[in-house]
Amino acid sequence: MSLQTMVVTQFHRPHGILGHIAGWIMAHRPSNRDRNRWTVDLLDIQPDDDVLEIGCGPGLALEACLKRVTRSRVMGLDHSQAMLDQAAARNARALSEGRLILRLGAWESLRDTEQQFDKIFSVNVVQFLDDPAAAFDVLHATLKPGGTAATTYMPRGKNPTREQAHRMANDVKRCMENSGFIRIKLEELPLNPVPAVCVLGTRA
Ligand SMILES: C[S@@+](CC[C@H](N)C(=O)[O-])C[C@H]1O[C@@H](n2cnc3c(N)ncnc32)[C@H](O)[C@@H]1O
Repeated sequence: MSLQTMVVTQFHRPHGILGHIAGWIMAHRPSNRDRNRWTVDLLDIQPDDDVLEIGCGPGLALEACLKRVTRSRVMGLDHSQAMLDQAAARNARALSEGRLILRLGAWESLRDTEQQFDKIFSVNVVQFLDDPAAAFDVLHATLKPGGTAATTYMPRGKNPTREQAHRMANDVKRCMENSGFIRIKLEELPLNPVPAVCVLGTRA
């Protein structure tokens, strides 16, 4: 296996030295930075919103959220300790002030939490889900009534296509409909080599 392939396979659950390299790539690749910023913009985050990012990786989007959330807290969840360490280093001040909470765990573990959020989002995590239907049920239950979820996806790997992005968006939309989300809409951000898509929906 080439070094490049070894790093790429880290994106599901980064660990060890290669995991740290994968996190560095996530934090510095322009398309990754753009789609994280765009997703946070789409959520129209308010100063007193409770916000959760699932699969926060190195914490780029958490940083953007913390600029908007001034009277509440932001939580980052990831099943990789290596990624939580990078997110902590990137957002050390907010963490020490108690404005940022970092939690080790999987998307699926949210079914055991009673806390609910105004805004929940993920960026390039949905492709790793074993049971998307169950994951979107949990997402719906973890939102406050009237809260909004955003799921962003940009295909990677060899020869990604816009069609792949839209196929995923349609799968996400179907899961969200089945979970009870309303006002579901799709947004697209032109990027190189393929666009990122984001599906947003609200809990009634
Ligand atoms: C491709 S990276 C994206 C990271 C970040 N969202 C970004 O765009 O920079 C995927 C991240 O999701 C995490 N992840 C994957 N599946 C997960 C799951 N089921 N629960 C929690 N975290 C997950 C990985 O550990 C990794 O940090």
